[in-house]
This record gives sequence, C-alpha cells and structure tokens, in this order.
Amino acid sequence: MVADLALVDPDLALSVPAAVTAATGVDALAHCVEAFTSRKAHPLVDLHALEGIRLAGRFLARAMADGGDREARAGLALASLYGGFCLGPVNTAAGHAVAYPLGTRHHVAHGLACAVIFPHTLAFNAPAVPEKTALVLEALGLRGATDVLAATHGWCAALGIGMRLSDLGVPEDDLPRMATEAHAIRRLLDNNPREMSREQILAIYRAAL
Ligand SMILES: [Fe+2]
Repeated sequence: MVADLALVDPDLALSVPAAVTAATGVDALAHCVEAFTSRKAHPLVDLHALEGIRLAGRFLARAMADGGDREARAGLALASLYGGFCLGPVNTAAGHAVAYPLGTRHHVAHGLACAVIFPHTLAFNAPAVPEKTALVLEALGLRGATDVLAATHGWCAALGIGMRLSDLGVPEDDLPRMATEAHAIRRLLDNNPREMSREQILAIYRAAL
C-alpha cells in the first residue's frame, strides 16, 4: 500500500482529536528516527529524517494543545511527509517490528503501538549509534539527556500517550508469543543498527508492560 500520489493538506488535520494527533505524530517521528539510525541509513534520506524529527519536536505538543494551530499542523504534515520519504529508500527497523504484534494480536492502533515501543528501541540502539541518538534527543528538545529511555518515555508521556502495554489490553502471558512473532520480521529487524534477540524483544515488552 504505497501511494502513487499524495496530496498533503494540513488543513485536513485540523479536526483530528488530540489522542490521534499524538499517536500518529509519534508514528511519523518513529519513521524518521528509525530510518535515521538504520544500518541502511543514507545521507540524502538523513536530511529529511532529521528535519522531520525537529518538526515533530517543535510542533507536536503545540498541535496537541491547540488542534486549530495551523502552523503546528503544517509542521506535522511536513514531518509526516518526510517520514514517508524515509520509508521507501531506507524504511523502519526494530521499533516497528516490535510494535507490530501489538496491533496484529491485540488491536492496538499502529501509531499508539509505535509510540509505546519507540523509547525502548531508541535506548536499546543508542550504544550502536551514539552520535545519531544524541542528534535525535537534541531535535526533540532533550539535549544532553543521559537516560535515553527515561527522557523519551517522558517526552511521549507528556503528550498524554498511555505508555503501558497492560493499559492497552496486552496480556502478560502473550508476551513470549509476541516476541517470537516480532523477531521473525526480518525485513525490518535486519535494518536495525544493533542485533536484537528474541529474549531482548521479550525484555522490552516486559519493561513496557
Ligand atoms: Fe509507522
């Protein structure tokens, strides 16, 4: 399902509810972050990815506070478009692979699933891509944060996103099967800058529960 043509009109998002704005905004952010830190990252795509992260960092909270803020909606529409530019040539990585079973097995909306998982995979990958992780934090207004997970988890939670799997209807006893399914999504996990085992995916689910 890849678009042949996209009409990007931020005014169409003016009536999007705050919760949907938050979840879809972090999904767009995750597209940019995962491409930026991917093993297949490319300098031409990095330009769009980093600017998309900056735009989300600058405008997502504003669009949450005032859905009618047209400048914020335009910034987010651009962030989303830049995230789309990342998907073709580079694509996402562990963040989306780990998020997918939340949707396929427990009907968690895609953006919300990606938002819950995003801080965990960014922190997991930080040792493999420290400079780019620092740039991501800076673009989100979290410059110098030493605890990547706490900083980005707090950033998402401040948007009002429910960050606990247990609150989203994900039962603890399904986590092992979810980890097995996520680990099999090689088309995305093979892009990840750091090898992630099934046990490490399970640890992320447990930490996010
Ligand atoms: Fe996505």
